[in-house]
Amino acid sequence: MTENKTFTIIKPTAVKNNYIGPILAKINEANFKIIALKYLKMTEEQAKAFYKVHEERGFYSELVNYMSSGPVVVAILEKDNAVEEYRNFIGATNPADAKEGSIRKLFGDSLQANAVHGSDSNENAEIEGNFFFSLTERF
Ligand code: CMP
Repeated sequence: MTENKTFTIIKPTAVKNNYIGPILAKINEANFKIIALKYLKMTEEQAKAFYKVHEERGFYSELVNYMSSGPVVVAILEKDNAVEEYRNFIGATNPADAKEGSIRKLFGDSLQANAVHGSDSNENAEIEGNFFFSLTERF
């Protein structure tokens, strides 16, 4: 993946609240192109592996339990300067601090249930996209 791609997850609470459609619609409106998309439920092992970068953090086991608690939507998105553009579009990690109109402000409930994940660097966008998608699953 290059600097025009990022990776996102629509998290379990947002899926449960029927926000898949509204969030994907906003992603389209903001001119991110969806080049890969899946609906799936992570096993605990998969969530542990995906969030391994956070394994020393106090919230790691809580995060792993939450992210494997229900189905999610994972996607690779394309746009110029995708990582920064998408992070700006979704807002601050904690929905309470996210700007008005941002995805986390509109659809997030808490720091943990903050509606979506967005990659924090080009390197992580590539690693995270590769975790869920093979080359033949991107268009
Ligand atoms: P995400 O972008 O998926 O990356 C890691 C996630 O951990 C983050 O979104 C938050 O939902 C969650 N997180 C970050 N800090 C905390 C915290 N202090 N307590 C619980 N969850 C957290």
